[in-house]
Amino acid sequence: MTTLALTINGRAYGPMDVRDDLTMNDFLREYLGLTGTKFGCGAAQCLSCAVIVDNPDGTSVTRPTCVVMAVGFNGKAIRTVEGHAKDGELTALQKSFVSHFAFQCGYCTPGFLNEGQVLLERLAKKPVARADLENTITQALDGHLCRCTGYIKYHEAVRDVVLADPKRYLI
Ligand code: FES
Ligand code: FES
Repeated sequence: MTTLALTINGRAYGPMDVRDDLTMNDFLREYLGLTGTKFGCGAAQCLSCAVIVDNPDGTSVTRPTCVVMAVGFNGKAIRTVEGHAKDGELTALQKSFVSHFAFQCGYCTPGFLNEGQVLLERLAKKPVARADLENTITQALDGHLCRCTGYIKYHEAVRDVVLADPKRYLI
């Protein structure tokens, strides 16, 4: 057993004792009931299980949860798909996913949403030229697998959020 304490969507959890071999995915889904984080391949290949890790230096990254033990997130601040909407109001990216019919079964959607949100926050700090936007989105979403093949719609949904606020996201 190992002691685990972390912050999820702004709320502190722990310290609590968890098994050393408990994956972060099982911790979120089975212990906390945060089932928005999915379990797909279980092999760090699809990223349907990815959550956002907010680093102390202000940067954020996504990390899979299926192959990483819960104790690997000890002391970290993370965000899951449940943490995006505030007071029932969807984020601009969530609304764009809906308006683009970006998802079909929705299994990959939390991972794409987390990755897209990280990208938007990065662009807000470090805008890119319009000419580089398509590649930037492609590279950001690369690695996320969608068995319903919604790649283009996810890409377009992210792009529309950027283009709707060019002063914020573009040079
Ligand atoms: S379920 Fe974690 S990467 Fe596929
Ligand atoms: S919407 Fe079904 S896997 Fe992506």
